[in-house]
Amino acid sequence: MASFKDICFTPAEFSTIARLDKSGFGALESSGQIQTVRRRLGNSDRKMVTLEEAQRFFRENRSGRHGDQGEIGGLPKHKVQMFYNVKGGTGKSTLTAQYVMKAAILGLKVLAIDLDGQGHLTVNLDILDGHERPTIYDVLINDLPLADAILPVAPGLDLVPANLGLCNIEIPLNNKTRREYRLSEALDKVSDQYDLIVADTNPAASILNGSMLVAADLVNVVCATNPLSFHGMSLVMATIEEMEREFKRSLEVKIVPNLYDNREIISQEVLGELRSQFPDHCTKSVVNRSADLNEATKRRNTVWGVNAKGVAAQDIKALTEELLFT
Ligand SMILES: Nc1ncnc2c1ncn2[C@@H]1O[C@H](COP(=O)(O)OP(=O)(O)OP(=O)(O)O)[C@@H](O)[C@H]1O
Ligand SMILES: [Mg+2]
Repeated sequence: MASFKDICFTPAEFSTIARLDKSGFGALESSGQIQTVRRRLGNSDRKMVTLEEAQRFFRENRSGRHGDQGEIGGLPKHKVQMFYNVKGGTGKSTLTAQYVMKAAILGLKVLAIDLDGQGHLTVNLDILDGHERPTIYDVLINDLPLADAILPVAPGLDLVPANLGLCNIEIPLNNKTRREYRLSEALDKVSDQYDLIVADTNPAASILNGSMLVAADLVNVVCATNPLSFHGMSLVMATIEEMEREFKRSLEVKIVPNLYDNREIISQEVLGELRSQFPDHCTKSVVNRSADLNEATKRRNTVWGVNAKGVAAQDIKALTEELLFT
């Protein structure tokens, strides 16, 4: 089963990602601005763009060589981001994994950080020996340099993994001086090497999550479009406001509606209520409930690797562009 680092794109898929029309791709290829390779797909040899070639294209495009590609050519508006909700099972880990992979495809240098002892982001990114590796526990409690806990996942994508040991961090972290600042200070030391740093958090109002709220510029609150998830939103927003007051920070907060099903009246109602109660925070993009996202988790790959033309691929593309560039 191909993993993310082996992903490659057909000219049509690459054109969609780069917002080119298909004739645009032909012109880029004939002028040598994009290189293709031949890959065997089923019974036929197909022309493909590799992950590294796509990244090179977007990076050079950022330096202006390929002209203006619109907003996808830029650096992220918010460098340090987190996916957050004290409620469990809303889709934080799934969306974080898809987001960091998509950002890496766009040529950004991305550091993903797993702050949940369940290690779901770690598994989603196909790191299966996370239990043997240092985690943010070693960084915050045992003073391991963050650089020593970073693991390469794929070109342009690194990870600080998590494992069950991270569930024991709260008491020792509580006893540390400057406990909420330790993560932010550790991140400062590696920040220069990345364009984007994204954390997946644990479903609790924990000190560890509080530390990430101190470090982050943008909080992406993932809210499932069901009544209980909506009910929990006031608490989540209150938690964020309390952190802002305590640490004298001003955070950008975006609410990402997930698991939307337009056949269900209740899903429509909750989305409507989210938009009317939090008009300044709700993202335009909505992530529909889709088996492709579950399948992507199972295959530990992107939704493009599962079904490039599916609704989930479109939703993640739109969401990523919105969270990165607006
Ligand atoms: N849009 C979606 N469509 C279909 N399935 C989804 C979608 N989003 C998430 N899921 C599925 O929902 C389940 C919970 O998702 P996930 O583990 O990402 O949530 P979480 O918020 O990280 O949970 P936790 O709070 O336990 O960390 C997973 O099985 C995931 O595959
Ligand atoms: Mg999770």
